[in-house]
Amino acid sequence: MPFQPVMTAAPPGFGPVPARVLTDIETLPCDLYIWRGPRPVLYAMRGGDLRRVVARAQRGMSFLVRDIDADLLHGALAESLPRVLANQRISPIERSKTAYSIAAKVLAPIFMRDRPLDHDGLILTQNAIDSITMRMLADEDLVWAMVATMQKHQATHTHAINSAVYGIVLARFAHIGGPDEIRDVARGGLLHDIGKNRVPKGILDKPGPLDALEWQVMRGHARAGNDMIVRALGFVPSYAHIIAEHHERCDGSGYPSSRLEDQIAIDTQVVAIVDAFDALTSRRPYKSAVSTFDALRLMRVAMRGQFNDELLREFIRLLGGWNALSGGNVTGEVANSDLVGALKVAG
Ligand SMILES: [Fe+2]
Repeated sequence: MPFQPVMTAAPPGFGPVPARVLTDIETLPCDLYIWRGPRPVLYAMRGGDLRRVVARAQRGMSFLVRDIDADLLHGALAESLPRVLANQRISPIERSKTAYSIAAKVLAPIFMRDRPLDHDGLILTQNAIDSITMRMLADEDLVWAMVATMQKHQATHTHAINSAVYGIVLARFAHIGGPDEIRDVARGGLLHDIGKNRVPKGILDKPGPLDALEWQVMRGHARAGNDMIVRALGFVPSYAHIIAEHHERCDGSGYPSSRLEDQIAIDTQVVAIVDAFDALTSRRPYKSAVSTFDALRLMRVAMRGQFNDELLREFIRLLGGWNALSGGNVTGEVANSDLVGALKVAG
């Protein structure tokens, strides 16, 4: 079962924090509150005793943190991530769940809409995904635990984390390069859709087909994302091209430049596959999720030629679907509405 976090409401000026993400921080970076009665009550003070916090985490509880302390918290969480991932006292699945929650927490602010991309938040996000990448390269148990932990509900930042994790898996096993190249796949996978922050919600979540003008706006997200990253960092990072190119397709049917396979970087081709796969297998306001099997079949058949064939075969093999797909055992039909929705996300 995919990991589903408990979503907790918070009063104005506060945000919820699952206690589990705090178990490997070294010092409490800010005050923690619990919601008891009409208003939040102070539970633990900045720099205070972590044992009470850990005990509460073990009971699956959550805390509240003041919005003005969010940056302090995210910094401490990102810093704790390597310890969480390497903590052999807990199972790979538990480590993955915590790492996923931390990544989602650290990443969420940079996916907030209608505000400039925050430089410090972006650096923190890069550091967080780098920690996950390095650990997934060192620890194979963690690779599959991270895949099993994925959340498939509608949220831009869960799609971002999933794309990064699948990207690490595919890049690692397809041997597209060393740690630096795989790190770029992870960063590019995580940030590929950051330009959607600039696409109006009404277009992103529109239940019906997009008109020509709406498509034009939607398609602008690839270049917009590249520009946002370059502006926030002040230089062109080695993964920026992945963001700009992630909708190019090997048969020339992609955008913005209708490039052909030999004109698209191999790391982009990895992200193109995992982006499409995660989009197909996730629920969206305008479509249901298709199964792993149906998504892979769509990518092999309905979208034939769009993806690097060798990489796609490797990805299918990795997901354990290759035998069923290649052995003539294809059964069942994808509902037409799912197919339409599936092809829409691929656009
Ligand atoms: Fe995209």
